[in-house]
Amino acid sequence: MAAILCVAGAASAPALAGTPRLAATPPMGWNDWAHYQCGFTAQTILANARELVKSGLAARGYDTVTIDDCWMLKTRDRHGNLQPDPVRFPHGMRPVADAIHALGLKFGIYEDAGYATCGGFAGSGVPNGGGRPHFLADAKLFASWGVDYLKLDGCNVYAAKGESQNAAFRAAYRDEHLALERVGRPIVFSESAPAYFQGTPDWYDVLSWVRGYGQLWREGSDIEIFDRKNPDRSRFASVMWNYEYNLPLGRFQTPGNWNDSDFIIGGDRGVTLAESRSQLSLWAMMSAPLILSSNLDKLSRAALAVLGNRAVIGVDQDALGRMATLVRRDASHDVLIKPLTGGRYAVAVLNRSPGTLHIGLSPRELGFPGGACRFETHELWTNARNRALSTLSATIAAHDTAMWTIRPDARCGAPADVGTITRIVPKVPRGHRDAERYTLCLAAPGKVERCAGTGQETWTLGPDDTVRTAGECLAQSGDRAVVRACGLTASDRWHYTVLGNLINEASHRCLTGRTSGTLSVAACQHNAASQIWSLPSGGAVREVGAPRMARAARPMPGAARR
Ligand code: GAL
Repeated sequence: MAAILCVAGAASAPALAGTPRLAATPPMGWNDWAHYQCGFTAQTILANARELVKSGLAARGYDTVTIDDCWMLKTRDRHGNLQPDPVRFPHGMRPVADAIHALGLKFGIYEDAGYATCGGFAGSGVPNGGGRPHFLADAKLFASWGVDYLKLDGCNVYAAKGESQNAAFRAAYRDEHLALERVGRPIVFSESAPAYFQGTPDWYDVLSWVRGYGQLWREGSDIEIFDRKNPDRSRFASVMWNYEYNLPLGRFQTPGNWNDSDFIIGGDRGVTLAESRSQLSLWAMMSAPLILSSNLDKLSRAALAVLGNRAVIGVDQDALGRMATLVRRDASHDVLIKPLTGGRYAVAVLNRSPGTLHIGLSPRELGFPGGACRFETHELWTNARNRALSTLSATIAAHDTAMWTIRPDARCGAPADVGTITRIVPKVPRGHRDAERYTLCLAAPGKVERCAGTGQETWTLGPDDTVRTAGECLAQSGDRAVVRACGLTASDRWHYTVLGNLINEASHRCLTGRTSGTLSVAACQHNAASQIWSLPSGGAVREVGAPRMARAARPMPGAARR
């Protein structure tokens, strides 16, 4: 997007400029939780670490082994230190960390910003009822073990009387951030805070502040865990849901600051090979962390080949770190495009339907203005290469994803930011969490609707701050938003904020799309779901000059230091 303006939030994201010191590309590795939960010992962890190396996955980039919840006791020792569970870790944690390092891997650990972890074990946060947190002492202990990665969950965060949940979480995550800085060891910091606000208006505020403290954050519900009693129960709906809630959040993501849509369970039972290809493709298109969570020893050769696909991993790890644009969505499929370094693009088509899908995509549909234009293509799951294709076509099995990298020739021209403009319905009941219910598309001549993949849902962001469809402009007309011939007046120009508002330049009011379908331009409210939009090009917010617009949202609540 060329000139759509960022007016809020960027100031809290120090990692926006330059090469980040930590996690310049999305973190990769393995974590025990989704497969084992609390059913592990040091042996389980080390066996998977060895398998990571033996299988070749470590060499493909999966380099961090993280021990999740349940590693510690419920109480601290008499000096206030955390105690590794002596049954699971009879020799303590240091030898486990050393063994992981000796394999050439990095070592990660789980803790919690509250007084107890989600499993009820000792947390680092403020004790229940108030008192001093343990962030610094625990960070020192982790550093002494050689921890390289910390996942800080958000169960049981204590909020003092009158203190908002948002403020209590912010204070806790900032304290951990400061503690990690104090101990001086480079430790990647994974924050679970936003996940505790999913579906609430505060979600966006939390997503704005976590960027200042850590390198990645979980923003929503857990991916479905392995069910020992029913191991083959399908977990694909959960993969789809995590993709669904993550995709609209591209504007929060830059290198060194990653949205985390949770573990890769692809390859494990409950996820077919086609579905595993889909998970890896979609996570790669979103530049999501790739953290495997399965019993690596039990993965089939075919599953290992999916998880280890170099080219797909390459798309995930591309240095631009952009989130894909949802070019088009209908009841059966999604089309995504993501810019890569070196003038290349990744394109993916997800077949969400239970039937086979035949697809053909022209350069124009992907945003390239040139007519007689060709792509040099690499189909990443079949490894087919072609030097000059005018259409990307594929036959895609149910739940599978086709994925390409493409290099457009000079005739294709510079691509515009073309695709859907969507808003979410934050409170979808469990059991109804599907793409059609959660995400609505902005459509000409002026409404929101279930996405149908039509031309009326295809928008182009102009370098002149216009939002166009079929050559006409989205414009404010009285209290309404309409599509009309572009007059290039302030009513045709829109500015985008990191909180997701589209603000009309003439009125300083917000584009408002109600679930009833009505589209209007109304006074901007703080994090109103009807006013929060996701734009093509991942909605990446680029600050262009000084903000010209008034702040739409009230400032984020500050968190007083304890
Ligand atoms: C959840 C978290 C999971 C896992 C679990 C441990 O809150 O999302 O990934 O860490 O806690 O209890």
